[in-house]
Amino acid sequence: MLVLGFESSCDETGVALYDTEQGLLAHALHSQVEMHAEYGGVVPELASRDHIRRALPLTQHVLAQANKTLADVEGIAYTQGPGLAGALLVGASIAQSLAFTLQVPSIGVHHLEGHLLAPLLEKNPPKFPFVALLVSGGHSQLMRVDGIGQYELLGDTLDDAAGEAFDKTAKLLGLGYPGGPALAKLAAQGKPRFKLPRPMLNSKDLNFSFSGLKTAVLTLVNQETANQNQHSNPDTLDLAIKADIAWEFQESVTEILTSKCMAALRQTGLDNLIVSGGVGANSRLREKLNAATKRKLCKVSYPRLEFCTDNGAMIAFAGAMRLKTLQQHPQPTHYGVQIKARWDLAELTTP
Ligand code: KG4
Ligand code: ZN
Repeated sequence: MLVLGFESSCDETGVALYDTEQGLLAHALHSQVEMHAEYGGVVPELASRDHIRRALPLTQHVLAQANKTLADVEGIAYTQGPGLAGALLVGASIAQSLAFTLQVPSIGVHHLEGHLLAPLLEKNPPKFPFVALLVSGGHSQLMRVDGIGQYELLGDTLDDAAGEAFDKTAKLLGLGYPGGPALAKLAAQGKPRFKLPRPMLNSKDLNFSFSGLKTAVLTLVNQETANQNQHSNPDTLDLAIKADIAWEFQESVTEILTSKCMAALRQTGLDNLIVSGGVGANSRLREKLNAATKRKLCKVSYPRLEFCTDNGAMIAFAGAMRLKTLQQHPQPTHYGVQIKARWDLAELTTP
């Protein structure tokens, strides 16, 4: 079954073609980072308008790349939520209109299910059951995954998500948007000098809390700024000091994430971990997880870097998995446009 997938939940337009027999045939992405950069964050209205501009040219591009035409498409998947309502509506409207025109089944995909299943797009994919660490801009969750739609929440953040903590801390250090990759780049030049807390490291549960860490960074930045020059502001803080703060912040987050992943493996008795979402691209996190899982003779899998952050391939894949199962019990497709800006992953069921 050849499935065309659309991702438009935030600031990236992703389109991909996934074939249930042959795998991923083509994918294309347009990032709006440059457009939003001058505002220091995502402007929802601009995001929606840009998805409208990009979705169909990207579709033409992936069809040409895979040497296919619209007539070959047998199913359509789109991100139904969670995300920015306007941005989701663009993807859903385009996907549903195409599905209606082609008279093929369509499916609304949960964005986080897309992230969660992204490692399965790789060669030698991990087998169910596994523990999943989902660390994105909006979520930090540990889950037990027994199959498609079988997700048991093991731990969650009590406040900020890991990616959000990276983004907010980057802002405190005067780095641009998007903050995560910029902070990771600066941290690579840093060294151990400061000590920041490791919130919830020994909490004996699998939950996270990152907002206190961000406050600790703010206090440190203010202290160091005052030490440097009473009249300066954090933007003028010495770059070497900023790099050392970034280093320690990244150490704290990656140590907590690694420790909780290992605890989740212990608690579930599983030996297979997958990591997905934007923060899963962080190389220090991968280094620590690789070492810790190796020590305990466990396996760890990641999506390729470009599939850690938002992309169309993960939506085409998750949609294809669900559509393939639905094919066995065909039902009339509902072509109305319905999005879910807020949508709990726990509401999903097996296809
Ligand atoms: O999964 P994603 O693209 O979007 C959401 O669904 O939220 O994740 C984006 C998040 C942002 O917070 C971004 O700063 C963070 O992932 N991120 C990183 C890195 N690359 C992206 N955080 C740390 N290190 C990175 N290399
Ligand atoms: Zn995402």
